[in-house]
Amino acid sequence: MKGLVYQGPFSVSVEDVPDARIEAPTDAVVRITTTNICGSDLHMYEGRTDVERGKVLGHENMGIVEAVGDAVGRVQVGDRVSLPFNIACGTCANCVKGLTGFCLRANPGSAGAAYGYASMGPYDGGQAEYLRVPWADYNALVLPAGTEHENDYTMLSDIFPTGWHGVELAKMQPGENIVIYGAGPVGLMAAHAAQIKGAAQVYVVDQQADRLKLAEQLGATAIDRSSGDAVEKLTELTGGGADRGVDAVGYQAHEIDGVEHPEIVLNELVQVVKPTGGIGVVGVYVPEDPGAEGELAKQGKLAFDFGTFFFKGQSMGTGQCNTKQYNAGLRDLITEGKATPGFLVSHEMPLSEAPQGYDHFDKREEGWTKVVLHPGSTA
Ligand SMILES: NC(=O)c1ccc[n+]([C@@H]2O[C@H](COP(=O)([O-])OP(=O)(O)OC[C@H]3O[C@@H](n4cnc5c(N)ncnc54)[C@H](O)[C@@H]3O)[C@@H](O)[C@H]2O)c1
Ligand SMILES: [Zn+2]
Ligand SMILES: [Zn+2]
Repeated sequence: MKGLVYQGPFSVSVEDVPDARIEAPTDAVVRITTTNICGSDLHMYEGRTDVERGKVLGHENMGIVEAVGDAVGRVQVGDRVSLPFNIACGTCANCVKGLTGFCLRANPGSAGAAYGYASMGPYDGGQAEYLRVPWADYNALVLPAGTEHENDYTMLSDIFPTGWHGVELAKMQPGENIVIYGAGPVGLMAAHAAQIKGAAQVYVVDQQADRLKLAEQLGATAIDRSSGDAVEKLTELTGGGADRGVDAVGYQAHEIDGVEHPEIVLNELVQVVKPTGGIGVVGVYVPEDPGAEGELAKQGKLAFDFGTFFFKGQSMGTGQCNTKQYNAGLRDLITEGKATPGFLVSHEMPLSEAPQGYDHFDKREEGWTKVVLHPGSTA
């Protein structure tokens, strides 16, 4: 079968790779119809991880069940399914609590497992014709048959639940306002989630005009940080501070001049969110960030403003999304027409064009908000 393989920094290619197959009785094999390139894939693409050459990438996968192992009963051949990016066993102490991003069995000794991702277990990704799905009965979310809402449902494997998780971690209640840093796919999904959850006002901060325009189209207030101090602007617009905040940027946060400054977003959120307010951090931070400038960052540490955070009595929630906690409910919102996360999709292409897709998306070229690959199509 064909799969998209990591070759080295800024280099991926479509190659013949070993066929996905049933390796355990609880496995399924899914024929991938749609799989997305994610901002998280770019951490590997840009060479910031220790992902091994030859790894098949892709953790945002959906498709049709092609084969099931003997112990698979709920999921059936022919089902249309979405696969959470986290691989979870369903029975360990964390999984039974719903903490599927921190499954103790899928990637022992580390924090959670995912398809096609550096240090998240030995699992191949789904930017390929087929994908092996461990513990398929637990992991696969069955979707309505057919092809309707394909671009909406494809957001269920990661970024729609992740955006939702950010708003949950911030503990936003209906009627509150919320500031979201980052108008990338995750930030825009957080904005969509906050609106569905009844935010009084959503503010989205970025410096990329095309992305801010999408935020405005959602009904959010766009804050362009290249045209003035975002903290000042937000403090003024919110009348003294926001109730809640979400970091959908992560450790690649940068100054306007492009210099990476990993703690800048966290510290601006601490300033902008009101005393006793909540902050949800879904942008990725890593113990060691080889890309960052600055002495502390070189040691893998952040100069986080803990003093102000403490003084204001704020709370913060962090981490990988426990996708399964949200994906069935979000699927139903899509089915009922109450959520339309597919608005993000800007480009669709066959797997053979994925290397070009990575290149454009990685350069954050104007209009390239979300790239969706269709391994089944050759057009
Ligand atoms: N927690 C999870 O489970 C999970 C899941 C998926 C993605 N992620 C992470 O979420 C983060 C965002 O993902 P994405 O796909 O939207 O990435 P992205 O890189 O496309 O978007 C990030 C956006 O942040 C903006 N930005 C940079 N510096 C900024 C600053 N100082 N202030 C405001 N905006 C700034 C950029 O212009 C960009 O538009 C990444 O770190 C990704 O790895 C986490
Ligand atoms: Zn992703
Ligand atoms: Zn588990």
